[in-house]
Amino acid sequence: NQAAAALLERIRREGAVKGQVIKVDRFLNHMVDPLLMEGLGEELAGRFAGQQIDKVLTAETSGIMIAQVIAHRLGVPFIYAKKKRPLTMGEFYAAASYSFTKQESTTLHVSREVLGAGERVLFADDFFAQGSTLKAIEQIVEQAGATLVGSAVIINKSERRDIAAVLTMDELRPLGESA
Ligand code: G4P
Ligand code: NA
Ligand code: NA
Repeated sequence: NQAAAALLERIRREGAVKGQVIKVDRFLNHMVDPLLMEGLGEELAGRFAGQQIDKVLTAETSGIMIAQVIAHRLGVPFIYAKKKRPLTMGEFYAAASYSFTKQESTTLHVSREVLGAGERVLFADDFFAQGSTLKAIEQIVEQAGATLVGSAVIINKSERRDIAAVLTMDELRPLGESA
């Protein structure tokens, strides 16, 4: 598909594949190319067309840009779980997530005001690596009595094939070898 080709080309020209680490900070998660993001979100939203989805759910920070595009395309709102609970947040759901990449534990918080029982939720993120963010999101969805419909990420670094992704390591590994 067009989105995968565009992303692969950007990683080849402006990024890098160093073993398991993909450098994307010139177009995805530090400096961001909104047009590229548009195409990636369109592709991922398309995978869930026809399914009933009420909300897209991500975690701050780098999941926000792709969640925004997917939610826009699906015509629903998106929620980003916050790593620091604002004093203004009343009752909330929370779950801890350990980042292997950053080697630190964070707690994700979602206000009870924005997610409720019976809602159908799509998880979105930039990377899927160890699945620790998804695990925390699953706990939050369960606390809310909501249902997780599926997961959509830009780059899936795991072997899980139930996660919708624009690119997997199989497609990225050749770039690392040629670099
Ligand atoms: P997991 O949620 O699937 O378990 O992933 P993991 O703990 O391994 O990843 C933690 C953080 O590292 C995530 O950001 C994720 O987006 C980022 N990450 C994982 N693999 C790569 C990679 O190959 N390249 C880059 N550039 N980032 C990667 P985060 O902790 O949620 O922080 P934020 O950036 O969203 O604020
Ligand atoms: Na992320
Ligand atoms: Na990130």
